[in-house]
Amino acid sequence: MSQSLILNMVKTTWALATAVKTYFHSLQNEIVEQFLVDWPTAVGETRPLTPNGLPVHDYLPALETAVSPQTAPLVAQLIEMASHLHWGQTYNPEDFGNDFLTRYGWTELFGPRGVLKYDKIASGFLFLGPHIEYPPHWHEPEEIYVPLTNGAYWQKGEATPWHEHTAGTVVHHEPWVKHAMRTEKRPLLALYLWRGNALAQKSTIR
Ligand SMILES: [Fe+2]
Repeated sequence: MSQSLILNMVKTTWALATAVKTYFHSLQNEIVEQFLVDWPTAVGETRPLTPNGLPVHDYLPALETAVSPQTAPLVAQLIEMASHLHWGQTYNPEDFGNDFLTRYGWTELFGPRGVLKYDKIASGFLFLGPHIEYPPHWHEPEEIYVPLTNGAYWQKGEATPWHEHTAGTVVHHEPWVKHAMRTEKRPLLALYLWRGNALAQKSTIR
């Protein structure tokens, strides 16, 4: 990959990370602020990742139908930059099936998998297409999700009720707490923050 392509991706990612940080601060949430103490202050080391597409990108335009006035600018920025970012999938067809993989993906801004190398915390976007369930999973790192779209349902714990968490809601998962998400007619775009050990480890699913 050419140096200029890498440099462009780093610049794009840092610009998006700056907008994400501003959005997180706007929530004025105590737990979010605790995570933000460890936010990177400079670009630092980078990974030579390639911009790529995923099937879930078919639903990028539909995200705009699910935003709130507060989240619309950040979602628009992500949509505009999506083709310049590196997108990943942690699971394989044996985990949740092929259908799940056509409507699931994430892009990490910084962390153990992101274009910006960082090990104190990780942050990025989770993207789910409509009519899909991200089945129960759990992991060691403590996690915050902030959905940027409306219409997705979240479950925390085992056999507990599902709740719609609207755009801008802070969803907090303590280490090893089982959680799941599902969408209906609208796709879900959510910010994530992770902190703790094993930031790059795959979630436990069964
Ligand atoms: Fe999680």
